[in-house]
Amino acid sequence: MPRSAPPARVPTHVAVIMDGNGRWANARGLRRNAGHEAGEEALFRTVEGALALGIGHLTVYAFSTENWRRSPEEVRFLLDFNRSLLLRRVDELIDRDVRVRFIGRRGRPVPRRLVDLIERTEARTAHCSRMTLRIAFNYGARAELVDAARRAAEDVAAGTLRRVDARSLAARLDDPAMPDVDLLIRTSGEQRVSNFLLWQAAYAELVFTDVLWPDFDEDELARCVAEYAARDRRFGGAEDRPSDADDGGGEG
Ligand code: IPE
Ligand code: IPE
Ligand code: MG
Repeated sequence: MPRSAPPARVPTHVAVIMDGNGRWANARGLRRNAGHEAGEEALFRTVEGALALGIGHLTVYAFSTENWRRSPEEVRFLLDFNRSLLLRRVDELIDRDVRVRFIGRRGRPVPRRLVDLIERTEARTAHCSRMTLRIAFNYGARAELVDAARRAAEDVAAGTLRRVDARSLAARLDDPAMPDVDLLIRTSGEQRVSNFLLWQAAYAELVFTDVLWPDFDEDELARCVAEYAARDRRFGGAEDRPSDADDGGGEG
């Protein structure tokens, strides 16, 4: 769909599983790391597209708690690459009034200098308010939920929390300010969630695209958002609409 015609229903929070870098590179006779490098422009195109559509929250999966299983060369590359990306491009995000926040565990084995840069980036962009870009790094939803449960148990033991419920647990997730996910996109044709935002995406609409992450762009984002806008979200509720039988469902 044309970029000039955003769909009527814009999701507040779009989350993206940026997948397919390795396959994109291997299909070109290149090493997997070349695919990660090519993914950088896709990320910035997606930020531009999200800004143009008026999306307030964009969360991207950059490195999972399971990605440590990859070869030492690829892990090292991804750590260095993410650090260099932050060093080189945060000014552009500040220019666009984009706040950057991180979710995921910040302890070992994440290198101290990367954690320092993560904290500096959050501080430098804290005043930006047009959109929040959250980067999930060393993130896994199970680890996040374990940490939240542990904090809640500690607070109950300390007498500062009376009971554990959905609200008190949500308040102890990595970023309690993160709204629920409206639209979850996964690229590269894989149809799984791979331990991403299990709590926050409980009622997300899922859109899978065959496009490999390095080829993702504003138009593909707009197409995914249009697919989202055409969905009927019910959140467990139901509406009796027998008139749909004779008017073809064309209710305003
Ligand atoms: C996604 O692309 C990037 C990360 C997981 C860091 P992959 O590296 O998973 O690429 P494929 O899925 O192997 O093609
Ligand atoms: C999910 O992709 C993690 C990221 C995109 C960072 P993976 O490529 O690691 O997921 P699986 O292994 O195919 O489920
Ligand atoms: Mg993958």
